[in-house]
Amino acid sequence: MNKLLIATNNEGKIVEFKELLAGSGIEFVTPAQINLQLEVDEDGSTYRENAAKKAIAFAQASGLISLADDSGLEVDALGGAPGLYSARYSPKPGANDRDRRNFLLKNLKDKPRPWTAHFHATIAVARPAGEIEFAEGNCFGEIIPEERGMGGFGYDPIFLLTELGKTMAELEMEEKNRLSHRARAVMAAMPLLKKMLSEKNS
Ligand code: IMP
Repeated sequence: MNKLLIATNNEGKIVEFKELLAGSGIEFVTPAQINLQLEVDEDGSTYRENAAKKAIAFAQASGLISLADDSGLEVDALGGAPGLYSARYSPKPGANDRDRRNFLLKNLKDKPRPWTAHFHATIAVARPAGEIEFAEGNCFGEIIPEERGMGGFGYDPIFLLTELGKTMAELEMEEKNRLSHRARAVMAAMPLLKKMLSEKNS
């Protein structure tokens, strides 16, 4: 079976992808493991475009079948924002995850609760020659005004899984990896991943 490259530089995502792929029989590497440093501009107008752009760039640079995701948080009261711009959602230069959470809460302050929202992930799996396949996953919940939990990354401390009564940051890794948008997208991608990796890599 060919090796899969996890095509992301986001440490939070790498940790999750490693867990999600463990036990699947798929052999994978990270960009750091193959000394690949690549930044891809996420300038597409859809999750698909961005995921495809990342997967193809990493596949061409490495010669390996590559899996990238583009994900985001969509808040209903904000018309789906920050959505595609989730990673860059703050007016502050050099903003970090906490700044982005604070900016989101500031924008929601005067809106009636519950602040229903969902995370979305689109996964693209690309071959170096350009063939590409997609899979998607969503996870529904609501934004809460105070941070809870230490796990995960990004908007996890303010994203409540309403039925569970826990934020994404309060979940054990194993639990997040059963319920999250990324987990669902990886599960949906599993058959096509196995198929692509078992065929000749070109
Ligand atoms: P991108 O997919 O690299 O464009 O980044 C998506 C952004 O959405 C991340 O930087 C986070 O801010 C947010 N995001 C995506 N998935 C998650 C998640 O599982 N938890 C929290 N935030 C997430």
